[in-house]
Amino acid sequence: MKQKILVTGGTGYIGSHTTVELQNSGYDVVIVDNLSNSRIDVLDGIEKITGIRPEFEQFDLADQDMTDLFFKKQTDISAIIHFAAFKAVGESVENPLKYYRNNLFSLINLLECMTRYSTACLVFSSSCTVYGQPEILPVNENAPVQPAISPYGNTKQVSEEIIRDTLFVSGKLRAISLRYFNPVGAHPSSLIGELPIGVPNNLVPVITQTAIGIREQLKVFGSDYNTPDGSCIRDYIDVVDLAKAHVIAVKRLLEQKNRQALEFFNLGTGKGVSVFEVISTFEKATGVKVNYTVTGRRAGDVEQVWADTRLANSELGWKATTSLSETLRSAWNWEVYYRKYLEKSR
Ligand code: UD1
Repeated sequence: MKQKILVTGGTGYIGSHTTVELQNSGYDVVIVDNLSNSRIDVLDGIEKITGIRPEFEQFDLADQDMTDLFFKKQTDISAIIHFAAFKAVGESVENPLKYYRNNLFSLINLLECMTRYSTACLVFSSSCTVYGQPEILPVNENAPVQPAISPYGNTKQVSEEIIRDTLFVSGKLRAISLRYFNPVGAHPSSLIGELPIGVPNNLVPVITQTAIGIREQLKVFGSDYNTPDGSCIRDYIDVVDLAKAHVIAVKRLLEQKNRQALEFFNLGTGKGVSVFEVISTFEKATGVKVNYTVTGRRAGDVEQVWADTRLANSELGWKATTSLSETLRSAWNWEVYYRKYLEKSR
């Protein structure tokens, strides 16, 4: 019989790509999402790609009673991948309690239900933001966690601590925290991708929206950093490569191959790329020019960070394989596809 995985936030950007990879690997998926930052028609995209429409329930995991009711009904969940969380750094500074309530309550409710209903395995969606500006690059999993710059970043740090403390007393639960670098791109079918609601904050959606003419100009936040071309350096990881790592992590937990109750893995490519390099790679890969200008630094940006991926490579047997050109082409194809789709459905 197929094992069933609960994917919270499964209609979101990384959640939808992970659902596709889980279904393609023979797992059943039930998605829980409150659709606060995603659209229901993402399910159509997932169904078109995999031939399977995942089970879906719309509710807020920060609601303790609803979460309990869900677990009472769903008695055959083998593992959970927890994506559902708010993620806009700027908004979290403006409205910290919204972030603490949503991101922490939902995790606490899930952990309580895991204990109550004997679901042992959790994969948690974390971020390289926990490292702040690391002293040593590439950064590995043993680097110290630095004080968070934003409430959003703090929710990721505190969540990892909540998981650690819960596992310590439970004796039964096991978890993997995946620390993502910068997820970009879309599914090669262009049927699912990143769907920023409102003005995007992240670099690649701003590039594709500028290239297609929705935004007039991309602002490059600073060219006076201590990097070869003066712009910030990040590790941009293809979302499908990233999604595949989740399937491996789930399998590792289900087969009890984990070495500790709680494990951490960096998910990146191991390669640092500057903002200017992303722009020029996009232009070369798509043949489309991006109108940009250089402005001042963005508050809270770290100068440079990229991943030491050796642990994920050796322990998970996982490696990012998609080139940045391919990834950026997929992001562009998705932007073009999605705008046409929106026009048609108007
Ligand atoms: C951001 C968050 C990080 C979060 C991640 C989720 C901040 C400070 N950090 O990471 O906590 O986990 O998103 O995806 O917001 N850039 C521009 N112009 C733009 C947008 C971005 O020059 O319009 C630059 C940024 O300065 C940065 C790079 O592009 O150097 C990547 O930015 P972004 O995509 O926002 O990711 P992070 O800042 O790395």
